[in-house]
Amino acid sequence: MQRIRFSTLLQWMTILGIQTLSLAATTTNTTNTTTTIGTQKPSVSATSTRLPVVTTTVNNFREKCYEYVGCFNNSAPFNNDEKTLPLAPEKIGVEFRLFTRKNEEYEKLTYKGNDVSVKNSHFNSSRRTRVIIHGFQNNVNEQWMADIKDSLLLIEDSNVIIVGWGPGANGGYDSAVANLRVVAAELSLLLIRLVKEAGLKLKDVHLIGHSLGAHTSGDTGRRLGGQIGRITGMDPAGPDFLNYNKAVLLDKTDAMFVDNIHTNGKTLLEGGAGISTPTAHVDFFVNGGRTQPGCKDGLSGFFSGGVAGVACSHGRSHQLFLESIRSECPFTAYPCANQSEFSLGKCLDCEPGGCSEMGFYADQHKARGSRFINTRAKAPFCGFHYAVTIHAGHGDDTKGTIYVTLRGSWGNTDAMMVTESEEKLKSGEDYVGVVVSPNEVGNVQSITVKYNKYKGWLFGLGSGNTVFAVDAVDVLSGESGKQYTFCLPTRQLTHSQSATLPVSPSGEC
Ligand SMILES: *[C@@H]1O[C@H](CO)[C@@H](O)[C@H](O)[C@H]1NC(C)=O
Ligand SMILES: *[C@@H]1O[C@H](CO)[C@@H](O)[C@H](O)[C@H]1NC(C)=O
Ligand SMILES: *[C@@H]1O[C@H](CO)[C@@H](O)[C@H](O)[C@H]1NC(C)=O
Ligand SMILES: *[C@@H]1O[C@H](CO)[C@@H](O)[C@H](O)[C@H]1NC(C)=O
Ligand SMILES: *[C@@H]1O[C@H](CO)[C@@H](O)[C@H](O)[C@H]1NC(C)=O
Repeated sequence: MQRIRFSTLLQWMTILGIQTLSLAATTTNTTNTTTTIGTQKPSVSATSTRLPVVTTTVNNFREKCYEYVGCFNNSAPFNNDEKTLPLAPEKIGVEFRLFTRKNEEYEKLTYKGNDVSVKNSHFNSSRRTRVIIHGFQNNVNEQWMADIKDSLLLIEDSNVIIVGWGPGANGGYDSAVANLRVVAAELSLLLIRLVKEAGLKLKDVHLIGHSLGAHTSGDTGRRLGGQIGRITGMDPAGPDFLNYNKAVLLDKTDAMFVDNIHTNGKTLLEGGAGISTPTAHVDFFVNGGRTQPGCKDGLSGFFSGGVAGVACSHGRSHQLFLESIRSECPFTAYPCANQSEFSLGKCLDCEPGGCSEMGFYADQHKARGSRFINTRAKAPFCGFHYAVTIHAGHGDDTKGTIYVTLRGSWGNTDAMMVTESEEKLKSGEDYVGVVVSPNEVGNVQSITVKYNKYKGWLFGLGSGNTVFAVDAVDVLSGESGKQYTFCLPTRQLTHSQSATLPVSPSGEC
């Protein structure tokens, strides 16, 4: 077991802004004063062995100090949540629950004083340590955290720590944003204790945080000088973070490898909860990264009360991460300039820079930068990508929806919607849809195409035509790179009738 040098520990404590003396257990009572003493920091009494709780208010500068975790102020770069400073650790109620294959019941870990929680636990530094952290309005008992923990322990013998801070995460949003700084300070102290007492190596640590938990992970990584092995941000929260300094948000300086899964990166006014810009080594944009299929998100989603208040698209990020742990489907994510290009089928190719795999296995790939992936609307979310191009022939414009079923050597897909629902379809145009199927069909041998005209509204007013002229359909398989062409001998699709077409051997019509 490798021991960490004490001088290195001292360096970390300096990074943490923690005075060594505050780590000593004492019986002195905490004092609480409000002072207006100029801009210098509140002085700690030489005889006191505890850090007093002091609130300093001068002009706009405010600071709060708590024993063990240190001081928190609102000067730049920590002015992203200007009016709010964190509550006391007792009010935030941080809990660390350790699970291993040896203990199904959790063991509580603490970082304070001389307790023996770490020494008496099943924590084993020869193994990976995965830490799961929730965000706004969640708490330690979230089922999604238990599910991720269970999946991890099924595939590997690791130390899994679930971090709960429900009391601090269930007040107002601003209060939760402030409180996460204390959660990060406490988690850093726990990790330092694990290094010191159990031989943990920071490179073996993987923090997995959702929403504000992603930024909690980032702040923890920053406090530990970016030495943590990996941080996965599951839809890192946008409000109070987007466009702020990288010191306050999860970014690539916080760990040796940082991967973000973006599922709800819209502005607050549009009802988004996630950050929309790339900040990690690899940023995965899922279905464009703004909203998710199968979700009806509204502005109320993120800020309404209760667990259900965490919006569907925002929560999809942890569902995807969970599925990725044990899925045989590869979650292939492609390099692309933006989602418009991706939706046009222009990026189902791993060049330039290589593809990556969204989720648990992202660290197995060398790809860096933004990567794009489409998923299905419900579990299993992962699918194989196919770009389907409908080449419209010459005839009348219409309004309707086109579906395609692929039949291959290994199986068939469901009927997948290629055009937008009830889209205006114009003569002579090409319509491209990037669709996903939970199974890879192998060599595509035939397809079935179906056209449903728009029914119109009152008395069928504005409905689509019964026929729509189509010459050919092209299919490109993203995962295999193969391209197929299918020809329509009738040169048209008829409302509600399926046309089954064999692959064109020459690739031409
Ligand atoms: C510490 O505080 C508690 C309750 O606030 C009080 O009962 C106790 O007397 C105090 N101890 C000292 C040493 O001041
Ligand atoms: C500190 O004092 C303020 C003002 O009297 C009070 O509201 C607050 O609860 C106190 N905090 C602690 C941690 O005792
Ligand atoms: C505010 O907090 C930061 C981070 O702990 C610290 O580096 C900085 O010196 C503090 N600013 C003041 C004016 O105390
Ligand atoms: C810690 O884990 C290693 C590797 O899995 C194992 O060989 C060792 O026996 C474990 N130590 C204890 C105390 O369980
Ligand atoms: C997407 O990228 C393409 C190619 O770089 C560019 O021409 C286009 O303007 C971009 N579209 C958006 C919406 O940014």
